[in-house]
Amino acid sequence: MLGRLLEINGIDSVILENHSKDYVIDRVRAGVLEQGTVDLMIASGVGERLQREGLRHDGVWLAFNGDRHHINFRDLTGQSIVVYGQNEVLKDYIAACESSSHPPYFEVSDVSVDEIQSATPKVRFRKDGIDQELICDFIAGCDGFHGICRLAVPASHRHCYEKVYPFAWLGILATAAPSSEELVYALHDRGFALFSMRSPQVTRLYLQCSPDEDITQWPDHRIWKELQTRLETSDGWRINQGPIFQKGVTPMRSFVVDPMRYGNLFLAGDSAHIVPPTGAKGLNLAAADIRVLAHAIVAYYKTGKSEELTNYSSTCLRRIWKAQRFSWWMTSMLHRFGGENDFDYHRQIAELDYVTSSPAGMTCLAENYVGLPIDTPIPV
Ligand code: DHB
Repeated sequence: MLGRLLEINGIDSVILENHSKDYVIDRVRAGVLEQGTVDLMIASGVGERLQREGLRHDGVWLAFNGDRHHINFRDLTGQSIVVYGQNEVLKDYIAACESSSHPPYFEVSDVSVDEIQSATPKVRFRKDGIDQELICDFIAGCDGFHGICRLAVPASHRHCYEKVYPFAWLGILATAAPSSEELVYALHDRGFALFSMRSPQVTRLYLQCSPDEDITQWPDHRIWKELQTRLETSDGWRINQGPIFQKGVTPMRSFVVDPMRYGNLFLAGDSAHIVPPTGAKGLNLAAADIRVLAHAIVAYYKTGKSEELTNYSSTCLRRIWKAQRFSWWMTSMLHRFGGENDFDYHRQIAELDYVTSSPAGMTCLAENYVGLPIDTPIPV
């Protein structure tokens, strides 16, 4: 996303990726885009397929006590969301970047960042058996939670905030027509479940499981039985079943590093923050970071002023903490925590009852779900 925005502004960049192109494109992730992310893709010239194939949703359902309750985003906020797989987003960006003057380098190894406090930070890496060195003005650490960039910041300058949840999600993709036009988030006394989709032919489903869940203990019939139990509602709604072609376990963590900058290294996306998946904020937060970072870099080259670069971390973190709060809240409201007594479960049901019946409660969920405003304009 950053490479594309810089290219549009005539600024050279080099994109390095450890994995192969196929791995990046095939790795299944979330699939809900806020309007701000959709706007970014369209402004970057990579939104054509998204506008054709993305599924626009005006709301979501919350299910508890066997009933489904609708939250109408469009009525409450005037906005909606678009369901479009994160790997589809990557496919579109990779295609655009590959036709640029600096196509991404896939399958690089031994990447390190050095002299990040200097005016000429360096990235060293190996490609096709040859060691290379890039001398940069800036390094964007977009290398995920397990990447090297965050760890290149001295520990004394890294304040980390973390929360690990005592559960995970078991996710599947199945060839089955979605049986609801919109997503269904469910709290059942056996745990959380989520009905989502990828296309008119593919259903995406998740269920709360243990963080060390052994996926071999989950044959398809057990997954379907558990999903049907947790998701069925008294209006007769049921999920459609079909062949499962992908299964995986997603751990749940909240994490923030502050600041997101050290010298001329700027952290963006999962290298700086992780949200639990409930509410699908991960990719959208990364896209918001990139909007702010691209704007700051473009402003620097146009005006020679580095004020926006200086403010990068605080501008991003203010919004990130609100998304952290929302993701934590959705997660807390919709999952069974181990060792709970009936008080906590009743409190969660009461919260869902409030959120689905009070206009203030519904609006609070809706405006966070569709994405809080991003003040920074897209630099195109
Ligand atoms: C999806 C993932 C999420 O984390 C979520 O909250 C909603 C949908 C998905 O993969 O479709």
